[in-house]
Amino acid sequence: MAKKLWGGRFKKEMHPALKCFSYSLAADKELFQAEILVNRAWARMLAKTGIITGAEAREIVRGLAAVEKDFEGRDLFAYASRYEDIHTLIQSELEKRAGKVAKKLHTGRSRNDLVVTSTRIYLREKISVICYEIRRLQRALVSAADRAADLIIPGMTHLRKAQPVLLAHHLLAYVEMTEEDTMRFRDALKRVNVLPIGSAALAGSALPIDQKFLAKELGFAKISGNSMTAVSDRGFLAEFLAGLSILWMHLSRLAEDFILWNSEAFGYVELDDAFATGSSLMPQKKNPDVFELVRGRAGTIFGYLQAILTVQKGLPLSYNRDLQEDKPGVFDAVNKTTIALEILALTVGSVTWHKKAIARAVADDTLFATDILEYLVRKKVPFSEAHAAVGEAVRYAADSARSLRELSLKEWKNFSPRIGADVYDLFDPKASLCGKQTVGSTHPVRVRQQLEFWKKSL
Ligand code: ARG
Repeated sequence: MAKKLWGGRFKKEMHPALKCFSYSLAADKELFQAEILVNRAWARMLAKTGIITGAEAREIVRGLAAVEKDFEGRDLFAYASRYEDIHTLIQSELEKRAGKVAKKLHTGRSRNDLVVTSTRIYLREKISVICYEIRRLQRALVSAADRAADLIIPGMTHLRKAQPVLLAHHLLAYVEMTEEDTMRFRDALKRVNVLPIGSAALAGSALPIDQKFLAKELGFAKISGNSMTAVSDRGFLAEFLAGLSILWMHLSRLAEDFILWNSEAFGYVELDDAFATGSSLMPQKKNPDVFELVRGRAGTIFGYLQAILTVQKGLPLSYNRDLQEDKPGVFDAVNKTTIALEILALTVGSVTWHKKAIARAVADDTLFATDILEYLVRKKVPFSEAHAAVGEAVRYAADSARSLRELSLKEWKNFSPRIGADVYDLFDPKASLCGKQTVGSTHPVRVRQQLEFWKKSL
């Protein structure tokens, strides 16, 4: 049985049920790499400040390298019932390899400041992985937008046909949303990249711990200004999970759009066989499970945000074991996010568009009602008068089961005498797009500029 880091005060072994209940290696095994880094820097710092000798530090560092080599790539889950946590595993395995000197490694620190240091290093690394994967998805969206070229779809509000937009414009909307997500993560990094170790259990250390050296060795931009914040605040994890939740909110909308476009009702998009799934009963089915899983998993991620907030709510300072509950959700959220971004990039990157279905959907004259309204406003008809006139024309055409362009000029003039023969030029999706003048509109030139901008900056 592996030794605990705290056995001295106790006469009895821990009850197996409590081990089962409290051990955390099954989750914090994710911190293995980060913890090795921290330990190495810590050993060097102890030597630099004269707490241990240079020779002792070298032995410890060598031992850590051996532990790292022996355990790298191994599933530490197999050790989950033997060791209390990742700190205990590394300490015990180091003692096996480096002998007595290993007992000096934990000098001047507590698992309270150690675990959160490793967590911050882990998160720093994962944030950059997530930003990289967001970029991959953005590139896939940009190339899908590029391939969609001049395809025009009915833009929707209230899931009802509204106005023509470029399909590329719709896809690029998600590039912009996820770019904001990346900015949020980059900003959150400032709160993540603060060195907590040296805070010891809660009050700081009476030993000459060199935090400046540690911050430099471990790449931290700042040292925590308050040891109690350092060991007990997980605001940086709440912020990360909030950013992640917003990202997943965006991903779930992207997923939903593709689910709709893939439905028979829309029929715009064909999924690559490699990224679709079938039914065990209905032989004809080809389902968009990738997108449904993304939509569904967003709920799990939101749950983790709720959990990290609730774990800390009303928690007295400083460290409490409650804080161990901070990690499983973060680890699972990180893993779910990286794979989801990867699969979305692959799936979106491999779709093909059903041009005929898209053309059928956009062949609907009501999509031009706003263009006619703006045409009348340009002819100096007051806005609400023009709005009423076009609305009446739409109803009149619907009542007589005709499309708007089937109304004669004489009929049109009944709704507004300012309407001229040039109104018929408006029944053209391209004309509708080209009429747009504002920044960020769906005008083809604007969309092309956006596309080029993203191609260059991604
Ligand atoms: N496993 C703990 C955590 O994740 C760290 C260990 C601190 N344990 C303690 N009894 N002070 O927060």
